[in-house]
Amino acid sequence: MAVIREAVRVTRKPLVAGNWKMHGSRDFVAAHLQALEAPLSELAIDIAVFPPAVYLDLAARQLAGLPVAIGAQDLSLEEDSGAFTGEVSGAMLKDVGCSLVLVGHSERRTIYGESNETVAKKFVAACSAGLTPVLCVGETLEQREAGETQQVVSAQLQAVAAVAGLDRLTASIIAYEPVWAIGTGKTATPDQAQEVHQGIRHWLGAEGAKTRILYGGSVKAANARELFSRPDIDGGLIGGAALVPEEFSAICRLADQQ
Ligand code: 13P
Repeated sequence: MAVIREAVRVTRKPLVAGNWKMHGSRDFVAAHLQALEAPLSELAIDIAVFPPAVYLDLAARQLAGLPVAIGAQDLSLEEDSGAFTGEVSGAMLKDVGCSLVLVGHSERRTIYGESNETVAKKFVAACSAGLTPVLCVGETLEQREAGETQQVVSAQLQAVAAVAGLDRLTASIIAYEPVWAIGTGKTATPDQAQEVHQGIRHWLGAEGAKTRILYGGSVKAANARELFSRPDIDGGLIGGAALVPEEFSAICRLADQQ
């Protein structure tokens, strides 16, 4: 069992990512990243932070030389540049040091009306810019209660695969974030999360064995160990707890101990 776990770990190195959402300031970026420097530098897992767009450049400069990747929370589905007021392109994100970008976070889908089709276009734009998309999928409480979880998640995956191709989807990172668990303090149980992660991997087919699938939704140090111990959970996408350096570094340590 330990040998199998070790083999999986080599292909799917655990990743813990902090989505700061619309939080922070210049002072916060400086203090927060400085507080993470020492605790995170000794870990063997992959770690990433997703600050608001205006602080990406500052964060990238501060993290230079440290093994922490930078990601953006969203990107434009348009070209590299042009008359698209207010938009930020994948090429610009790459230019300031991002290697990752969230695509289709549930807050983008529900608050800003991003459809599966828009999400698929953004996914392609991310790949074209040389960024690795972190595709967020997940069901609402109503959909879960109606027994539609796997169907909803499959439709979200299918919309991207249809436009981007299954190869690019399996080469990306997927984050399963049940909408009802985001910012509510209600985490999916490790069994509930494992069941959906396994379903996603099965949907992806043979190449899905290599795809990293993160869980997100009220992850904290108190529940991370159990979640990360499940075979198809390759790390976490952390919201609120990522804003507290002690909490975020504790979650990273727990992923490192798996
Ligand atoms: P919380 O951890 O605050 O529930 O947020 C999860 C999330 O949306 C990460 O993208």
